[in-house]
Amino acid sequence: MWGAETARNYDTPGSGMFAPEVLEPAVDRLARLAGRGAALEFAIGTGRVAVPLAERGVPVTGIELSPPMVEQLRTKADEATIPVVIGDMATAVAPGEYSLVYLVYNTISNLLTQAEQVACFRNAARHLVPGGRFVVELWVPELRTLPPGRTATVWQNEPGRIGLDTYDVLRQHVVSHHFRFDEAGQARLFRSPHRYIWPAELDLMAQLAGFERESRHADWAGAPFTAESRSHVSVYRLPPAR
Ligand SMILES: C[S@@+](CC[C@H](N)C(=O)[O-])C[C@H]1O[C@@H](n2cnc3c(N)ncnc32)[C@H](O)[C@@H]1O
Repeated sequence: MWGAETARNYDTPGSGMFAPEVLEPAVDRLARLAGRGAALEFAIGTGRVAVPLAERGVPVTGIELSPPMVEQLRTKADEATIPVVIGDMATAVAPGEYSLVYLVYNTISNLLTQAEQVACFRNAARHLVPGGRFVVELWVPELRTLPPGRTATVWQNEPGRIGLDTYDVLRQHVVSHHFRFDEAGQARLFRSPHRYIWPAELDLMAQLAGFERESRHADWAGAPFTAESRSHVSVYRLPPAR
Protein backbone atom coordinates (compact mmCIF):
# COMPACT_ATOMS: atom_id res chain seq x y z
CA MET A 1 0.00 0.00 0.00
CA TRP A 2 2.75 2.47 0.88
CA GLY A 3 4.95 1.70 -2.11
CA ALA A 4 7.02 3.94 -4.36
CA GLU A 5 4.11 5.32 -6.39
CA THR A 6 2.01 6.24 -3.35
CA ALA A 7 5.09 7.78 -1.73
CA ARG A 8 5.89 9.88 -4.84
CA ASN A 9 2.35 11.23 -4.98
CA TYR A 10 1.79 11.66 -1.22
CA ASP A 11 2.89 15.26 -0.79
CA THR A 12 0.52 17.99 -1.99
CA PRO A 13 2.37 21.08 -0.71
CA GLY A 14 -0.01 23.83 0.39
CA SER A 15 -3.21 21.86 -0.24
CA GLY A 16 -5.25 18.94 1.11
CA MET A 17 -3.63 17.50 4.21
CA PHE A 18 -0.64 19.82 3.59
CA ALA A 19 -2.82 22.97 3.65
CA PRO A 20 -1.58 25.44 6.28
CA GLU A 21 -5.01 25.49 7.96
CA VAL A 22 -4.78 21.69 8.44
CA LEU A 23 -1.13 21.43 9.36
CA GLU A 24 -0.36 24.52 11.43
CA PRO A 25 -2.81 23.85 14.30
CA ALA A 26 -1.43 20.29 14.56
CA VAL A 27 2.18 21.45 14.61
CA ASP A 28 1.37 24.23 17.13
CA ARG A 29 -0.30 21.79 19.51
CA LEU A 30 2.41 19.15 19.20
CA ALA A 31 5.15 21.73 19.77
CA ARG A 32 3.40 22.87 22.97
CA LEU A 33 2.94 19.28 24.16
CA ALA A 34 6.59 18.38 23.49
CA GLY A 35 7.71 21.32 25.66
CA ARG A 36 11.47 21.18 26.03
CA GLY A 37 11.64 17.46 25.30
CA ALA A 38 12.02 15.41 22.14
CA ALA A 39 9.22 13.96 20.02
CA LEU A 40 8.83 10.59 18.34
CA GLU A 41 6.41 10.19 15.45
CA PHE A 42 5.01 6.72 14.83
CA ALA A 43 4.43 6.22 11.08
CA ILE A 44 6.30 9.40 10.17
CA GLY A 45 5.65 8.96 6.45
CA THR A 46 7.14 11.68 4.27
CA GLY A 47 7.48 14.03 7.23
CA ARG A 48 4.32 16.08 6.63
CA VAL A 49 4.15 16.91 10.35
CA ALA A 50 7.70 16.05 11.45
CA VAL A 51 9.45 18.49 9.10
CA PRO A 52 7.58 21.64 10.27
CA LEU A 53 7.76 20.43 13.88
CA ALA A 54 11.54 20.03 13.63
CA GLU A 55 11.71 23.50 12.05
CA ARG A 56 10.11 24.83 15.27
CA GLY A 57 13.12 23.49 17.16
CA VAL A 58 11.58 20.26 18.50
CA PRO A 59 13.98 17.33 18.03
CA VAL A 60 11.94 14.74 16.08
CA THR A 61 12.67 11.06 15.43
CA GLY A 62 10.46 8.71 13.43
CA ILE A 63 9.47 5.07 13.13
CA GLU A 64 8.17 4.07 9.70
CA LEU A 65 7.46 0.80 7.91
CA SER A 66 7.80 2.02 4.33
CA PRO A 67 11.30 2.79 2.94
CA PRO A 68 9.80 4.64 -0.09
CA MET A 69 7.95 7.04 2.25
CA VAL A 70 11.23 7.70 4.10
CA GLU A 71 12.99 8.29 0.75
CA GLN A 72 10.54 11.13 0.15
CA LEU A 73 11.18 12.47 3.65
CA ARG A 74 14.89 12.47 2.82
CA THR A 75 14.28 15.00 0.01
CA LYS A 76 13.28 17.43 2.81
CA ALA A 77 15.35 16.49 5.87
CA ASP A 78 18.50 14.43 6.31
CA GLU A 79 19.11 11.60 8.80
CA ALA A 80 20.95 13.91 11.22
CA THR A 81 17.97 16.31 11.33
CA ILE A 82 15.19 13.69 11.54
CA PRO A 83 16.49 10.17 12.29
CA VAL A 84 14.12 7.36 11.29
CA VAL A 85 14.02 3.72 12.36
CA ILE A 86 12.53 1.47 9.70
CA GLY A 87 10.11 -0.88 11.45
CA ASP A 88 6.65 -1.55 12.79
CA MET A 89 5.33 1.07 15.20
CA ALA A 90 3.83 -1.69 17.36
CA THR A 91 7.26 -3.17 18.10
CA ALA A 92 10.21 -1.12 16.75
CA VAL A 93 12.40 0.72 19.21
CA ALA A 94 13.95 4.12 18.55
CA PRO A 95 16.97 5.20 20.61
CA GLY A 96 16.42 7.98 23.14
CA GLU A 97 13.76 9.21 25.54
CA TYR A 98 10.82 11.35 24.54
CA SER A 99 8.38 13.72 26.19
CA LEU A 100 5.94 13.16 23.32
CA VAL A 101 5.00 10.29 21.01
CA TYR A 102 2.38 11.08 18.38
CA LEU A 103 0.44 9.07 15.81
CA VAL A 104 -1.72 11.15 13.52
CA TYR A 105 -4.00 10.98 10.51
CA ASN A 106 -5.91 7.83 11.56
CA THR A 107 -2.80 5.71 11.20
CA ILE A 108 -3.31 3.56 14.31
CA SER A 109 -6.12 1.97 12.28
CA ASN A 110 -3.51 0.65 9.82
CA LEU A 111 -2.76 -1.96 12.49
CA LEU A 112 -5.40 -4.54 11.72
CA THR A 113 -5.82 -6.36 15.03
CA GLN A 114 -6.72 -5.19 18.51
CA ALA A 115 -3.59 -6.93 19.85
CA GLU A 116 -1.32 -4.90 17.54
CA GLN A 117 -3.10 -1.68 18.44
CA VAL A 118 -2.62 -2.39 22.16
CA ALA A 119 1.03 -3.24 21.45
CA CYS A 120 1.35 0.14 19.75
CA PHE A 121 0.19 1.91 22.94
CA ARG A 122 2.65 -0.14 24.96
CA ASN A 123 5.40 0.75 22.51
CA ALA A 124 4.55 4.44 22.89
CA ALA A 125 4.73 4.10 26.69
CA ARG A 126 8.13 2.37 26.44
CA HIS A 127 9.62 5.41 24.68
CA LEU A 128 8.26 8.07 27.04
CA VAL A 129 9.72 9.69 30.12
CA PRO A 130 7.47 9.68 33.24
CA GLY A 131 4.68 12.20 32.65
CA GLY A 132 5.21 11.90 28.88
CA ARG A 133 2.30 12.08 26.45
CA PHE A 134 0.98 9.97 23.59
CA VAL A 135 -1.24 11.84 21.12
CA VAL A 136 -3.55 9.98 18.75
CA GLU A 137 -5.57 11.57 15.94
CA LEU A 138 -8.34 9.25 14.80
CA TRP A 139 -11.71 9.30 13.07
CA VAL A 140 -14.90 8.21 14.83
CA PRO A 141 -16.24 5.03 13.18
CA GLU A 142 -19.09 5.99 10.83
CA LEU A 143 -21.35 3.05 11.48
CA ARG A 144 -24.40 5.29 11.71
CA THR A 145 -24.15 5.57 7.90
CA LEU A 146 -24.39 1.79 7.48
CA PRO A 147 -28.05 0.66 7.25
CA PRO A 148 -28.93 -2.67 8.93
CA GLY A 149 -28.09 -5.62 6.69
CA ARG A 150 -25.74 -3.59 4.42
CA THR A 151 -21.99 -4.01 4.27
CA ALA A 152 -20.93 -0.97 2.24
CA THR A 153 -21.44 2.80 2.12
CA VAL A 154 -20.65 5.30 -0.62
CA TRP A 155 -18.86 8.34 0.80
CA GLN A 156 -17.98 10.01 -2.49
CA ASN A 157 -19.82 10.13 -5.82
CA GLU A 158 -18.43 12.81 -8.13
CA PRO A 159 -17.46 12.92 -11.79
CA GLY A 160 -14.41 10.67 -12.11
CA ARG A 161 -14.41 9.61 -8.46
CA ILE A 162 -16.21 7.06 -6.37
CA GLY A 163 -15.42 6.36 -2.74
CA LEU A 164 -16.77 3.20 -1.17
CA ASP A 165 -16.23 1.71 2.30
CA THR A 166 -16.86 -2.00 2.84
CA TYR A 167 -17.37 -3.24 6.39
CA ASP A 168 -16.75 -6.43 8.32
CA VAL A 169 -18.36 -5.39 11.59
CA LEU A 170 -17.40 -8.58 13.43
CA ARG A 171 -13.68 -7.90 12.93
CA GLN A 172 -14.13 -4.09 13.13
CA HIS A 173 -12.59 -3.85 9.68
CA VAL A 174 -13.32 -1.30 7.02
CA VAL A 175 -11.69 -1.24 3.60
CA SER A 176 -11.73 2.18 1.99
CA HIS A 177 -11.89 2.02 -1.83
CA HIS A 178 -10.95 5.09 -3.87
CA PHE A 179 -11.91 4.62 -7.54
CA ARG A 180 -10.66 7.16 -10.10
CA PHE A 181 -11.85 6.83 -13.68
CA ASP A 182 -11.52 8.76 -16.94
CA GLU A 183 -14.02 9.39 -19.75
CA ALA A 184 -12.82 6.29 -21.60
CA GLY A 185 -13.88 4.22 -18.58
CA GLN A 186 -10.32 3.40 -17.49
CA ALA A 187 -10.36 3.10 -13.71
CA ARG A 188 -7.70 2.99 -11.00
CA LEU A 189 -8.34 1.70 -7.52
CA PHE A 190 -6.55 2.54 -4.26
CA ARG A 191 -7.67 0.40 -1.32
CA SER A 192 -6.74 0.83 2.30
CA PRO A 193 -7.73 -1.64 5.03
CA HIS A 194 -8.28 -0.38 8.57
CA ARG A 195 -9.38 -1.68 11.95
CA TYR A 196 -11.68 1.01 13.30
CA ILE A 197 -11.61 1.84 17.02
CA TRP A 198 -14.30 3.44 19.14
CA PRO A 199 -13.08 6.29 21.37
CA ALA A 200 -13.90 4.28 24.52
CA GLU A 201 -11.94 1.29 23.20
CA LEU A 202 -8.99 3.57 22.50
CA ASP A 203 -9.12 4.80 26.10
CA LEU A 204 -9.06 1.22 27.35
CA MET A 205 -6.02 0.43 25.18
CA ALA A 206 -4.35 3.45 26.74
CA GLN A 207 -5.18 2.21 30.25
CA LEU A 208 -3.72 -1.21 29.47
CA ALA A 209 -0.46 0.52 28.61
CA GLY A 210 -0.46 2.60 31.82
CA PHE A 211 -1.81 5.90 30.43
CA GLU A 212 -4.58 8.18 31.63
CA ARG A 213 -6.52 10.31 29.20
CA GLU A 214 -5.62 13.95 29.68
CA SER A 215 -7.87 15.48 27.00
CA ARG A 216 -9.98 14.79 23.94
CA HIS A 217 -10.95 17.44 21.41
CA ALA A 218 -12.63 17.37 18.02
CA ASP A 219 -9.65 18.99 16.32
CA TRP A 220 -6.13 20.27 16.85
CA ALA A 221 -7.35 23.77 17.74
CA GLY A 222 -9.28 22.44 20.76
CA ALA A 223 -12.93 22.38 19.54
CA PRO A 224 -15.16 20.46 21.97
CA PHE A 225 -15.62 16.76 21.24
CA THR A 226 -19.36 16.01 20.92
CA ALA A 227 -21.67 13.19 19.83
CA GLU A 228 -21.49 14.66 16.29
CA SER A 229 -17.69 14.93 16.10
CA ARG A 230 -16.25 12.98 13.19
CA SER A 231 -12.75 12.67 14.57
CA HIS A 232 -10.74 13.42 17.66
CA VAL A 233 -7.34 14.35 18.97
CA SER A 234 -6.79 12.40 22.19
CA VAL A 235 -3.92 13.10 24.55
CA TYR A 236 -2.82 10.32 26.92
CA ARG A 237 -0.34 10.82 29.72
CA LEU A 238 1.87 8.52 31.77
CA PRO A 239 1.96 9.13 35.53
CA PRO A 240 4.71 11.55 36.57
CA ALA A 241 7.78 10.24 38.40
CA ARG A 242 7.28 9.77 42.14
C1 LIG B 1 -1.58 8.20 6.19
S1 LIG B 1 0.18 8.00 6.22
C2 LIG B 1 0.59 9.14 7.50
C3 LIG B 1 2.02 9.64 7.41
C4 LIG B 1 2.31 10.83 8.32
N1 LIG B 1 2.18 10.48 9.72
C5 LIG B 1 1.41 11.99 7.99
O1 LIG B 1 0.70 12.45 8.88
O2 LIG B 1 1.45 12.45 6.86
C6 LIG B 1 0.36 6.43 6.97
C7 LIG B 1 1.81 5.99 7.16
O3 LIG B 1 1.80 4.91 8.09
C8 LIG B 1 2.83 4.02 7.72
N2 LIG B 1 2.56 2.75 8.41
C9 LIG B 1 1.49 1.93 8.21
N3 LIG B 1 1.56 0.88 9.07
C10 LIG B 1 2.68 1.06 9.82
C11 LIG B 1 3.28 0.33 10.87
N4 LIG B 1 2.74 -0.80 11.32
N5 LIG B 1 4.43 0.80 11.42
C12 LIG B 1 4.99 1.95 10.98
N6 LIG B 1 4.46 2.69 9.97
C13 LIG B 1 3.31 2.26 9.40
C14 LIG B 1 2.71 3.99 6.21
O4 LIG B 1 3.86 3.43 5.61
C15 LIG B 1 2.52 5.47 5.91
O5 LIG B 1 3.73 6.14 5.78
